[in-house]
Amino acid sequence: MKPLSRLVVLVSGQGSNLQAIIDACKNKEISAQVVAVISNKEDAYGLERARKENIPAIIKTKPSAQAREDYDRELAEMIDAEYAPDWIVLAGWMRILSKHFLHRFHNRVLNLHPASPGMFPGINAIERAFAAFQNGEIKHTGVMVHLVPDEGVDCGPILGQTAVPINPDDTLETLSARVHQAEHEVLVGVLRKIVNR
Ligand code: GRF
Repeated sequence: MKPLSRLVVLVSGQGSNLQAIIDACKNKEISAQVVAVISNKEDAYGLERARKENIPAIIKTKPSAQAREDYDRELAEMIDAEYAPDWIVLAGWMRILSKHFLHRFHNRVLNLHPASPGMFPGINAIERAFAAFQNGEIKHTGVMVHLVPDEGVDCGPILGQTAVPINPDDTLETLSARVHQAEHEVLVGVLRKIVNR
């Protein structure tokens, strides 16, 4: 039998996408295991989710005096040496990774973005989509999962996407919940495709 793919998941916050991955691994929807969860924020709830599952939960904050390229290089070296991942999933990881990280994992880093390709790159994408809907500029939003080839923000070859409707009676909360649900489904779907093949 093919060995399980090794996933390292990077998080900065809640970790609901991490949880979707963990659940899909546990119920064998994807042939993978999360071998480590890493956060640049020590209070990220994603770390707690990892600990509950006995998955190594590593805090890697960036000291303000440290150069970004040194942080990125150190992070990549640590991940590679200790966890030898097949794939790295940026699941709500709120730092842009430079080539000093990315070159080590060429075409093996995935990111998810809570908007359609090319739309609202960067932070607060759901808020901006909601405002654009209210101004009559868009009729729906979306989510996407893509490869991270370089430092471009929320762009790269698309591996999966779906449209997410916005209803006239939505609040930011109801829309956010629908977007997050879609993210979980698209992310697990993409992982299923790439690790089960
Ligand atoms: C997601 O919407 C992700 O696309 C964005 O940050 C959010 C993280 O959610 N970049 P969670 O931490 O997985 O719950």
